[in-house]
Amino acid sequence: MSDTKALLEKIAALRLRIDQSHHLATAAGATAADPAGAAALEDKVRSGGWHSALLDGVLRGAEPAEKPALPVRLSQRGARLVRQARDLLAQLKALADDPILPADAADPLAELHRSTAGMIDAVLRTVQTFPPSTSAQSRMSEGLEAILEVVDDRLSIVKAAMRQRSTETGRIERLADALRRIAAGQAVNVASLEQLAGEVREEARQGLPLRFHALPTDDPAHAAAAHGLTVAGVLARLIDGDADWQGRDLEGLVAALVHDAGMVRLPAELIAQTGPLTEEQRRLVERHPLAGAQALVKLWPGGGWAIDAAADHHERLDGTGYPKGKRDLHLADEVKLLTVCDVYAALASARPWRGPHEPRTALTDTLLLADRGALDRKQAERLLRLAFYPPGSVVELDDGCVALVLAPQVGERALTQPARPVVTVVREAFGQAAATPRYLDLAQQTERTIVRSLAPAERRQVLGRLYPELV
Ligand SMILES: [Fe+2]
Ligand SMILES: [Fe+2]
Repeated sequence: MSDTKALLEKIAALRLRIDQSHHLATAAGATAADPAGAAALEDKVRSGGWHSALLDGVLRGAEPAEKPALPVRLSQRGARLVRQARDLLAQLKALADDPILPADAADPLAELHRSTAGMIDAVLRTVQTFPPSTSAQSRMSEGLEAILEVVDDRLSIVKAAMRQRSTETGRIERLADALRRIAAGQAVNVASLEQLAGEVREEARQGLPLRFHALPTDDPAHAAAAHGLTVAGVLARLIDGDADWQGRDLEGLVAALVHDAGMVRLPAELIAQTGPLTEEQRRLVERHPLAGAQALVKLWPGGGWAIDAAADHHERLDGTGYPKGKRDLHLADEVKLLTVCDVYAALASARPWRGPHEPRTALTDTLLLADRGALDRKQAERLLRLAFYPPGSVVELDDGCVALVLAPQVGERALTQPARPVVTVVREAFGQAAATPRYLDLAQQTERTIVRSLAPAERRQVLGRLYPELV
């Protein structure tokens, strides 16, 4: 090689190095100029978020510990690959700065985000080791392009899950705000509650998974809102398409949303308490139905189902409930149904002092209470419409496959076949992902049965990367 040629190649390599530093510095510019974003990143790094450290390093153009040699000349295809990787990395960076992305490194969404950032890092580092030959670069680019396609898919999954979480936390905030105002005797726009009820109804109509919100312990209004949304979600699925409820369903769902407005006045430490209540605390809790009903009268001066539901949702048909020990004949049918939803929702959701009960257990326990005369049997049997395993449940079949429940049976079959929903297999018997989508109607395929539903930790493991929004 002549001196001139060697010199030209050195200049080309130097230009490329300067070019790459420039691009990386440009991508990092937004972070450097944004002290709030930089502080958020530093927080996550401090809390041990490896992926944030990685993003921070890559986006700021920090030098890796070992400096891979840069290729002499990058082919057009290689350069396109780098541009695409940088674009995907910038999108991941934007998501990392969004407070919706959980700081908990063990959260499946954070894990998916982190490992996806790692894939891009691997691609960029591999490009740095490209050989000079264009044909060799082309072969390697093909493999790296395939990795970036997977990265793109994962990015879509992360974005969809973050949208979902944003919607859910937004709804809890909106309802908590309304409940605070109701409890404080301030004006609340009933139309905004009806809009929220309409969103819950629409999700039920679309057959979307039922959410059992854990009880937030930071604020009683958040707790009442999260629980109200779960109860409304249950009720929406029970009355959807029911002729008796036509034209009244929104009223019922609003009642479900606000039925625990009286909880807002409870002390925050009582909501978060994990041990048994003292006698005085128990008396405070037993006041929440009437406190809620009194606050809601200002919203509906002429009375209505929301007020009855707030006042009577802890009454039991056999007189064992509170605050008044009312019996069967003094309770409206609508309130009896909401009480059934309230009991089922509370059992199936996590509480500060216990984890969530499996939906099947929550359903059978609610039916047992009806059998003993505490709850209305006819209203409790409506829960069978949810099936033992509501949509969104992850179950193990008797052949070892893991499946996601898509829909319960409909009509008469919903009542006779509650353990046989329609499912799709997500993991084969030996643990590998299902190669092709397979839908099973277990009411038709009677040789297959559900053995159990998976515990939250198992759900994370099986579904975390595929559907973090379902975990
Ligand atoms: Fe309550
Ligand atoms: Fe409740």
